[in-house]
Amino acid sequence: MARPSRRRLVSGNWKMYHDHVQAIRTVQDLGLRLAGLDLGAVDVSVHPPFTDLRSVQTVIEDRGVPVALGAQHCHNQDEGAFTGEVSPPMLARLGVRYVIVGHSERRTLFGQTDEEVAAILRAVVRHGMTPIVCVGETETERDQGVTHARLESQTKAALGGLPAQQVAGLVVAYEPIWAIGTGRTAEPGDAQVACGHIRQVVAGLADDEAAQSLRIQYGGSVRPDNTAELMTQPDVDGLLVGGASLEAASFAAIVREAGANPR
Ligand code: 13P
Repeated sequence: MARPSRRRLVSGNWKMYHDHVQAIRTVQDLGLRLAGLDLGAVDVSVHPPFTDLRSVQTVIEDRGVPVALGAQHCHNQDEGAFTGEVSPPMLARLGVRYVIVGHSERRTLFGQTDEEVAAILRAVVRHGMTPIVCVGETETERDQGVTHARLESQTKAALGGLPAQQVAGLVVAYEPIWAIGTGRTAEPGDAQVACGHIRQVVAGLADDEAAQSLRIQYGGSVRPDNTAELMTQPDVDGLLVGGASLEAASFAAIVREAGANPR
């Protein structure tokens, strides 16, 4: 079967960095740096903290910055007495296109369960946004050789029961926990094996067509100098970038590499 052309997606997860003033500067700078690039084959998103979203949205719109607005998390209910939370319709109203769901930091530091991840994912889809669902093994799981089992259980818990048509439009991010913020990037070949396995699991949950359409990102210590090799892997459709997305220069360099290295 001919490989479908999945558009690449490079996303910057800013985590709890950059207040709204720093965010405005960063996105303005990013706009200047991306202006000269050929983005014909790559989508880009930035995921600032909630307090920055409105400011970043304004810069993107006013300056025509070629990036989509993203969020890092949301609740699964549309409204309610959930102090401190933000709802999917609030994000949709701001023009948010992508929402990171089930990041390992939310799972481990804030106790987010597989069930919550599945509920948030569905709420995000219901409001017309695209979830970026994170899965990934710990270092211990990797050492124990249970990486594939872990990826399978997280993927099944998040996507199980969704119509194939919806699955086709989703994004999954493979983020090995031991590679996040450590400088230890996964070997490109290992990232490929993991992403290929996730795609196989998705095919079993939905169908082949949906699995071939769904985009899979790699995340974990992505930098400009390791982007090209990661992006040549057939099942790696993009990157979820943490630290290196905070500076416009390094994030733009990653976007450039991702767009310039066809499989
Ligand atoms: P780093 O790129 O800083 O390792 O973070 C990866 C990540 O968690 C992105 O969601």
